[in-house]
Amino acid sequence: MEANPPKRKETRKSLRVKVISMGNAEVGKSCIIKRYCEKRFVSKYLATIGIDYGVTKVQVRDREIKVNIFDMAGHPFFYEVRNEFYKDTQGVILVYDVGQKESFDALDTWLAEMKQELGPHGNMENVVFVVCANKVDSTKHRSVDESEGRLWAESRGFLYFETSAQTGEGINEMFQTFYSAIIDLCDNGGKRPPSSMGVGFTKEQADAIRRIRNSKDSWDMLGVKPGATRDEVNKAYRKLAVLLHPDKCVAPGSEDAFKAVVNARTALLKNIKSCPTLPST
Ligand code: GTP
Ligand code: MG
Repeated sequence: MEANPPKRKETRKSLRVKVISMGNAEVGKSCIIKRYCEKRFVSKYLATIGIDYGVTKVQVRDREIKVNIFDMAGHPFFYEVRNEFYKDTQGVILVYDVGQKESFDALDTWLAEMKQELGPHGNMENVVFVVCANKVDSTKHRSVDESEGRLWAESRGFLYFETSAQTGEGINEMFQTFYSAIIDLCDNGGKRPPSSMGVGFTKEQADAIRRIRNSKDSWDMLGVKPGATRDEVNKAYRKLAVLLHPDKCVAPGSEDAFKAVVNARTALLKNIKSCPTLPST
């Protein structure tokens, strides 16, 4: 009797992907990459000059991927050097320093630079972005908290990780999740799979949380004019409470925003006199 030929294990093609790093100078882009690839940390600041290029093979799930990493210089001086490296990218590591608010505020400018360089036909929708809130080891000087960073990232459909290149916190987890999402993107014909698009909260909820966080006083927080009546305060409160109630809203920071709205309403109502009831005729 003829023996069955041994079944050949199906081998999946290894992937080749391009990844870039983005973010202000000195936020830790090179150190994050070094921590992952070389398992070490360099405390001395050695600014990247233009671009650093490296290639590495990684195993993610059952796949081997060959990653070409372009580590960009964050300094504005190198704009001319880095601008041609944005195209044909599957993944972006977007880094800010949690102790440096300007580096967080600059994330929008980095996205705008990439969008401009990709031109009108470039598609940022089909790129995997991971945001690294870096240097979480030095919490003494933290100026951007987790919910603020997470909200910024997740409301755009980006991944978010708290990282420290110094201690290694979050680094492996970040790269594994990032590469895994890139594999899903490639398997889906270069398009972000629909399952990764839904964030579980609306833009209206994200905008309300951001506005509450940046409000200057209780009036501003509820979105009413100073001197508003009890009715106006209550109406504004009810609208926000429905939008942000922790049972209904999963957006990062919603619980704090909800508490802040409750406190603002209490503080305002304390100082607004109720309308005197009209004497009955
Ligand atoms: P450019 O190449 O100029 O764009 O900077 P970069 O973003 O690549 O920064 P780099 O990785 O060179 O790190 C800048 C400085 O921050 C260095 O002195 C690092 O040692 C330090 N650094 C990087 N990551 C961390 C971290 O997680 N924690 C702490 N405490 N320091 C870090
Ligand atoms: Mg660098």
